[in-house]
Amino acid sequence: MNATINGLDLYYEIHGDGPTVLCVHGFPLSGALWTPVAERLADRCRLVVPDLRGHGRSAVAPTATMGDFADDVAGLLDTLDTQRTVVVGLSMGGYVAMEFYRRYGDRVEALVLADTRAEADTPEVAADRIKLADRVMTEGSSIIADGMLDILFAPNAPSDLKKAWHDIMAATPPAGVAAALRGMAERPDSFGTLRTIHQPVLVVVGELDVITPPTGARAMHAALPNGRLHIISDAGHMTPVENPDRFAFVLNQFLDSLS
Ligand code: MLT
Repeated sequence: MNATINGLDLYYEIHGDGPTVLCVHGFPLSGALWTPVAERLADRCRLVVPDLRGHGRSAVAPTATMGDFADDVAGLLDTLDTQRTVVVGLSMGGYVAMEFYRRYGDRVEALVLADTRAEADTPEVAADRIKLADRVMTEGSSIIADGMLDILFAPNAPSDLKKAWHDIMAATPPAGVAAALRGMAERPDSFGTLRTIHQPVLVVVGELDVITPPTGARAMHAALPNGRLHIISDAGHMTPVENPDRFAFVLNQFLDSLS
């Protein structure tokens, strides 16, 4: 389905019926990240799965800060007449979830922060992202897809799964990739935010995640007043597609604990 949100044509899918669970994908992925989990949970909740601006089937915009993304998903919830939601975000989607909390905390029932981190970029990392954004605009998104593929997945991930995600990343428009890189470079540190979240927060991470490793997940968990931590064994950064059974099981248990 498509909706015009903040002047942009955004693609989204809805799976199932029941309490709303908003699922936010990472960089430079698409809502397809959540399809296997959505299929497993559609009998117990309504999963709202957008393609963020500049990704998947959504329109590209000149900027893509974490605030832009958060405002887009808030606008989508308005369109769907939904006030409160559980927000699930993976990696960059986790940065968006934390920004959503800062802007719309009273709309958050609970959070799931998957394979993400709370710290801001160091000045060096931020500068590298800006340089990479410039390169993507001249060399195309495949440089990102090639560079990220091996670190996204656990070493034993099936090659057809990796190939499918390489193709999705390479198809993300360069302007969308560059805008998201610039947006991530300017995101703030979120540890202070985590300390203020009194809603339940589940931190999930793949045991073999090398992009946002379990040490960072443990630090996030330690900062949360009402946090839980689950480490998914034998998975890398792409937990919802590497082990959808486990991810869905853990999310299902967390949703049960809320009611
Ligand atoms: C992601 O998976 O969303 C990104 O790798 C996050 C990042 O680059 O910080």
